[in-house]
Amino acid sequence: MIVQSLTLQHDRKTTVPGLREALTALPPVPPPISFSEYAALSAGDRDVYDEARQDFVRLTLRVPTPEQDVSARILAKLIASNQRRKNSRRGIMISAPMFYGKTELALLLARSVEREHARRYPDYTERGEVPVVWIEVTDHATGKALLAQIIRFLAPTAAEPTRINTHDLRRQAVELLHSHHTKLLVIDEAHNLGGSEPSSVIKALQNESSATVALVGIDLAGGKAFGSGEGLQVTMRCDLVELRKVDIRTDSGLDLWKRWVATFDRNLPLCEHRPGTLTRNHLALHAAASGRLAILAMIVERLISSILGEPARVDEEVTRERLFAVLDGLRQTTPVRHRIKLDDLVDAA
Ligand SMILES: Nc1ncnc2c1ncn2[C@@H]1O[C@H](COP(=O)(O)OP(=O)(O)O)[C@@H](O)[C@H]1O
Ligand SMILES: [Mg+2]
Repeated sequence: MIVQSLTLQHDRKTTVPGLREALTALPPVPPPISFSEYAALSAGDRDVYDEARQDFVRLTLRVPTPEQDVSARILAKLIASNQRRKNSRRGIMISAPMFYGKTELALLLARSVEREHARRYPDYTERGEVPVVWIEVTDHATGKALLAQIIRFLAPTAAEPTRINTHDLRRQAVELLHSHHTKLLVIDEAHNLGGSEPSSVIKALQNESSATVALVGIDLAGGKAFGSGEGLQVTMRCDLVELRKVDIRTDSGLDLWKRWVATFDRNLPLCEHRPGTLTRNHLALHAAASGRLAILAMIVERLISSILGEPARVDEEVTRERLFAVLDGLRQTTPVRHRIKLDDLVDAA
């Protein structure tokens, strides 16, 4: 059995190579083997196999969400129309509370923009084109800092201009976006932008550059940065996509939750895995995660890592005890509060 171990070299998405790595690191599930085959591997091979299984869960195992469809459709239209407009360009806002899958959604959109560009212009990297620019806003960042990040992303070797004014920085950023054929500018953690100055910079970017702006952050439309004053001007120029909890009191909500749980259950990279335990406990999982996809994903990730972390295991079956241990650990090590007891869980049929 040959399992390639995945090499990851970049910690951040805020550089061209870092973003490319984030967009392309989608390791496949390693080939399934029986537990006895696994046990017969050398310790080193077992480690490689386990790492590959965890990478698959961390990087590749994703479920489709309704917001993905909605936002992909909106973004495709905006990109097409913004390039043909001289004013009134629109952006997209992806907003939700903390830990809701916002960054993951933006990454998915970025990947589709990059892929579409690669499909149309196969030699785009040789031509130095950068279809997606990704920046992350740190605490209380100014519009000027935002422009400097765009410039650093696209021209990392350029000497850092000192004392350059916002107007010149903006001209430079706009020129770079244009010369690199940038179609999408992702501004993650955008809630950290505050006040009128960043808003006027974003507005000016939208006027002067045909790159479509995607603002991603916590409670954007209602928060301090874009919910009032100057910021409202930016909000008015964006289509808003909000991520929500799944309400299982509606049929469509219940269906969606069950589909997610079933998708995770079917794809757990465990030896001799038989799906069932997650699916049969979908209601308890909904209660534990209070309907949040990101928490469900965390439960799945922890379940895999806790099973692979049992040194003396003789199987990798998902039992209700193993699932409960994860749910209980969540209560102790994260702010997630729930009342699920072992007795609330059932084993696979
Ligand atoms: N569609 C999805 N399928 C599976 N897991 C997801 C999905 N969307 C988000 N997640 C997981 O949820 C967690 C939080 O996502 P993230 O995008 O970082 O949230 P946010 O940016 O809102 O804080 C991550 O572990 C991520 O992998
Ligand atoms: Mg995020």
